[in-house]
Amino acid sequence: MHLPERPRRLRRNATLRRMTRETRLAADNLVLPLFIRDTDRARIPIASMPGQFQLGICDAADTADAAADAGIPAVLLFGIPETKDPVGSGAWAADGVICRAVRAIKERRPDLCVITDVCLCEYTDHGHCGVINKNRDGVPDVDNDATVDLLVKEAMAHADAGADIVAPSDMMDGRVGAIRDALDVAGQQDVAIMAYSAKFASAFYGPFRDAAESPPQFGDRRSYQMDWANGNEAVREIALDVEEGADIVMVKPALPYLDIIARAADTFNIPIAAYNVSGEYAMFKAAAEKGWLDEKSAVLEALHGIKRAGATLIITYWATDVAQWLQETDYP
Ligand code: PBG
Repeated sequence: MHLPERPRRLRRNATLRRMTRETRLAADNLVLPLFIRDTDRARIPIASMPGQFQLGICDAADTADAAADAGIPAVLLFGIPETKDPVGSGAWAADGVICRAVRAIKERRPDLCVITDVCLCEYTDHGHCGVINKNRDGVPDVDNDATVDLLVKEAMAHADAGADIVAPSDMMDGRVGAIRDALDVAGQQDVAIMAYSAKFASAFYGPFRDAAESPPQFGDRRSYQMDWANGNEAVREIALDVEEGADIVMVKPALPYLDIIARAADTFNIPIAAYNVSGEYAMFKAAAEKGWLDEKSAVLEALHGIKRAGATLIITYWATDVAQWLQETDYP
């Protein structure tokens, strides 16, 4: 029998597979998120995210240092303040948790890229991502323009503390342009913006909200985060952030939205970040703990999928593990 095509020829052994592999994960493209408490020392396990901790500022610097040693170029910081209030004023305090953490990490590792999450949900007592006012239906809702003013203050505080990149995750309209203008006017034109552009109102953020102590105390986030069903709108959201001056745009979550990552990579000539979120982490960890999945190969397969879809950067709680796995000789 004459078979015209034999794709298996190039799969016969590891050398041939290595030569023809199309997508490669590298530590260079991974970002490690850290949850930081407003105290020097703490290492509190997060129940729904095995292996992840709420860290004190010194512990966060230790963890960032170890990640950098493993080859990870960047960390993404989330703050858990001591006190919360209706407008989230802890978010822009110059001596607040994130500003202190940025300084501590930069002092330890000036070469590490420090990215800060810019959002109010960890700092507001109601857990929403902005200021609450009644909307046109008389229903309490996040007030877009009042919130943008506060996000600008937060981004400026992080930039002044030494952040390399600010990452607004609130999904308010117009915040990227407002932050860009304020940074430029203040002489912070070298601070980059990684915009959470296509951020969906996802069930997969559940474990994060335990970790960051930020669940909404009433309602949900569907009046600001995107409807899961919408792909065209995701492209439009990304286009707006690109026009407003974003340097990197993000799709979040990653695994249920690979089509959006692929469309973004095809449409825009700008780095695309994908956030492999807390619920994706928790699912794999839970299955691995039960012995139902092999964690390392499931994670490597999933992250190759995210990369293959078109992501340049992947934000993942496995960043340091992956950097180590990639060094191992049995990496397939
Ligand atoms: C803050 C924010 C969230 C995440 C990142 N930034 C939670 C949310 O929007 O409720 C989720 C990250 C994750 O689940 O890993 N707005």
